[in-house]
Amino acid sequence: MRTQVGIVGAGPAGLVLAHLLHLAGIDSIVVENRSRSYIEQRLRAGLLEQGSADLLIETGLGERLQRECMLHDGLFIKFKGELHRLDFRALVGKSVMIYGQQEIVKDLVAARLGYGAPILFEVGDVALHDLGGPHPRIAFTQNGERREIQCDFIAGCDGFHGISRPSIPADRITVFERIYPFAWLGVLVEAPPTRDELVYTHHERGFALLTMRTPRLSRLYLQCAPDEAETNWPDDRIWEKLRLRTAGGEGWQLSEGPIVQKGITEMRSFAVEPMHYGRLFLAGDAAHIVPPTGAKGMNLAIADVRVLARALTAFYKEGREDALAGYSRVCLRRVWKVQRFSWWMTQLLHRFDDDNAFDRRRQLAEIDYITSSRAGAMTWAENYVGLPMEWE
Ligand code: FAD
Ligand code: DHB
Repeated sequence: MRTQVGIVGAGPAGLVLAHLLHLAGIDSIVVENRSRSYIEQRLRAGLLEQGSADLLIETGLGERLQRECMLHDGLFIKFKGELHRLDFRALVGKSVMIYGQQEIVKDLVAARLGYGAPILFEVGDVALHDLGGPHPRIAFTQNGERREIQCDFIAGCDGFHGISRPSIPADRITVFERIYPFAWLGVLVEAPPTRDELVYTHHERGFALLTMRTPRLSRLYLQCAPDEAETNWPDDRIWEKLRLRTAGGEGWQLSEGPIVQKGITEMRSFAVEPMHYGRLFLAGDAAHIVPPTGAKGMNLAIADVRVLARALTAFYKEGREDALAGYSRVCLRRVWKVQRFSWWMTQLLHRFDDDNAFDRRRQLAEIDYITSSRAGAMTWAENYVGLPMEWE
């Protein structure tokens, strides 16, 4: 097999890239080691920045998104038992949307298969070859047979645990990393959201977040120990902690219902520089991870592939290599701003066991500042709704 751009991974990064390349008349083949139904069910992100949503709408993927998404003009921050609203529409003139990542994946897969472009599901033993030369190759096993795709370029969109990043010689990239001393327990609940906007809660016993998927499905997160198993979290214990951490304020009543799904997510900040090696370009979680607090991972993945699609289009349509040469530099400017914001929201809202009384007072003072000063609220809002794209 031969293609212009071989794409490893059918997550948001790989599928959005394949879609943008298709619209630019550039061929690609996507290889994915999981099944179609697995990637369409995988429960993950839920919050789309306005820029990410606009891109999906402008490129023909907005039909179901616009019908089913939940548009949010603000959010709530709860601390010392009191709710404070951050109105980002008033502050920075933009909104965000709730629309599940797996719904975006479904829309992207349907669009791609609809125009007859290939996604090879359930491939095994994926390996990358000749990355430093002009004809890189993707090798894999499909239905018991070893196969190969010859490419002009390879996009490594296979997430944090994929094979693309480890295919780069260790002395050609630098890793930056911070691991947090806690994790998130996430649950999906058959109950209407407690509030019609998200509630980010600071509590001395730990962080909690109330978000949603639909008007009848809530998505709730709780800070927990990093090494805890899901089996340590029977439903009763989850509700007890959620009630405790979100309590307070007039008329407050946590909306409860059957828990239909549970999962634990580790918290990590991670980035590599540069985001390419030879003809391999890394995008999304393959190149960087942010802790989920700022809801940025999927949005950052989409921003990377917008830059990559534009650079590949400049190469194929105008014979220019400068945009590909600048890919990593342009992406990393955004990556580091988003890393900073995701770290900042994480340290602002979580309980750190080794913090002393001074640190806790400082944390509360900072939340108080954010919720009572327009300048403070503005920096949260501006980053949260998504920084503008930069192309240079
Ligand atoms: P992935 O989605 O990980 O896709 C990689 C794909 O590659 C997968 O389909 C995988 O199966 C495949 N793959 C892996 N290895 C191989 C291989 N060897 N060969 C072939 N294929 C392979 N982000 C937000 O923007 N907003 C949010 O609200 C948000 N909330 C989150 C909440 C939680 C609990 C979690 C866990 C994450 C959240 N994120 C959020 C982050 C977001 O889900 C990720 O950043 C996003 O999935 C990254 O997309 P990606 O395409 O780079 O990687
Ligand atoms: C969701 C996840 C987040 O980490 C966040 O900050 C906001 C929303 C979500 O899953 O809906």
